[in-house]
Amino acid sequence: MRELKAFINNEFINNGEWLEIINPTTLLPAGKVTALKAEDINKAYSAARNAQKDWEKLALLERISILKKFRDAILKHQDEIAKIMSEEIAKNLKDSLAEVLRTVEIIDYTFEEAKRMDPLAMTGEGMGAKNKLGIFERVAKGVILAISPFNYPFNLALAKIIPALVMGNTVVFKPATAGSLTGAYMAKLAIEADFPKGIFNVVTGRGREVGDIITSNPEIDMISFTGSVGIGNQIRAKGSSTDLVLELGGKDPALVLDDRDLEKYASEIVTGAFGYSGQRCTAIKRVFVNDQIADKLVPIIKKHVEKLSVGTPEQNAFITPVIDEKSSDFIQGLIDDAKQKGAKILFGDKREKNLMWPTLVDYVTPDMKLAWEEPFGPVLPILRVNSIEEMIKLANKSNFGLQASVFCQDISTAINVAKQIETGTVNINSKSQRGPDCFPFLGIKDSGEGVQGIRESLISMTRYKGIVINY
Ligand code: NAP
Ligand code: G3P
Repeated sequence: MRELKAFINNEFINNGEWLEIINPTTLLPAGKVTALKAEDINKAYSAARNAQKDWEKLALLERISILKKFRDAILKHQDEIAKIMSEEIAKNLKDSLAEVLRTVEIIDYTFEEAKRMDPLAMTGEGMGAKNKLGIFERVAKGVILAISPFNYPFNLALAKIIPALVMGNTVVFKPATAGSLTGAYMAKLAIEADFPKGIFNVVTGRGREVGDIITSNPEIDMISFTGSVGIGNQIRAKGSSTDLVLELGGKDPALVLDDRDLEKYASEIVTGAFGYSGQRCTAIKRVFVNDQIADKLVPIIKKHVEKLSVGTPEQNAFITPVIDEKSSDFIQGLIDDAKQKGAKILFGDKREKNLMWPTLVDYVTPDMKLAWEEPFGPVLPILRVNSIEEMIKLANKSNFGLQASVFCQDISTAINVAKQIETGTVNINSKSQRGPDCFPFLGIKDSGEGVQGIRESLISMTRYKGIVINY
């Protein structure tokens, strides 16, 4: 049984309380992590605060040299990290390793981008202040709370932690319960990289038990959260002055506007909808298409869905068990509601506990829950809508606004439609996706607040410090 501990001030914490992590594939314990209490969590913030000024005083290249040892330790242990991840979130081994290597790419790019966070220099001439030269550099905000979701326990954590650290902040990191083994493993990498005491702290414990304590500490200067709308709104509702970046849920639509490359469209839609069993915020979660094109497109989509392998992470199956049985019950409920209201199941609608076959549902209508709710599972609804204007209207009616896809070979039409869709980003002729990670990544409406992406994260975790020279 893997036993990983919380990490505070470079010490592994064992308070005798444990949080068991269940392997979604075996439904048996994958391991356990420390279940911290309030007093432990407050120690993490004290450690982060005490370490921050000295960490920020280091030169950028000194911080990078220390963080590069962390990066090198990731590569050294990449297979073990991938195995732990696959055991605790049922991501197949290939995708788990891909997540680890993608994270190293993010780290390397972050180091380079940090070197180019040049100060802003301005004269006052434009406002009649002739003898004033302003230099505005970006400096650390202080103590950053990073909270990550279960579905990218390594990538979406370090995509916050590394930008925070490289700019001189210190970090308190809360991994998702399902993801805590992967998160706590980062402490071993930090020790291997000779991190200075207190710059990086891992607080483990079930969110519903310790979440309020973690997000209420007065030492927090900024929170970077990725997770569900419900939790994100709980954090937002605290109304503290703390700066927030929230990356929340999604209900990404795919609008299919012509039939000029249906094989490509179907391939993008299926990989976009069913990657990691649909447990991606940017998964395609609804398809809008008119009847005439649907009669040709849907059979092609069905052909692709039927080919998706179903099994275990060790088998590198495309479809693996969803995170837990509570989630699979919710997903099944959406499918059942659609069926009861007249939708047509073309494939799937089959499960063994939390292993759910990819499910393709045609003739979904706006009165069905599946048209609006985020399943976060392997189900794809087709909504047959016979006008582009109606597609845009339904796409925008969602409370979510993360991403969208527009499939259309006429680029003018595609751009004009994209400009009308209320999301952070619209992908033309590809599935919706966060990458490449150097791009800004944002959601609007219930899908988030603020912006991620490498440069945007460096900006959101720093503030201006102005020095004005009068001469
Ligand atoms: P979640 O249940 O909201 O949990 C997210 C994180 O918040 C976890 O670390 C969780 O810890 C923690 N948490 C729970 N209660 C908390 C509280 N009261 N205060 C502070 N933190 C608390 O989301 P998830 O199930 O991990 O991920 C699925 C959701 O996240 C989906 O809606 C998905 O769309 C969204 N998501 C969005 C993005 C994006 O980039 N926009 C990326 C990935 C996922 P515990 O696990 O211990 O509860
Ligand atoms: O749900 C995780 C979100 O960040 C999507 O990432 O790379 O799968 O589009 P990606």
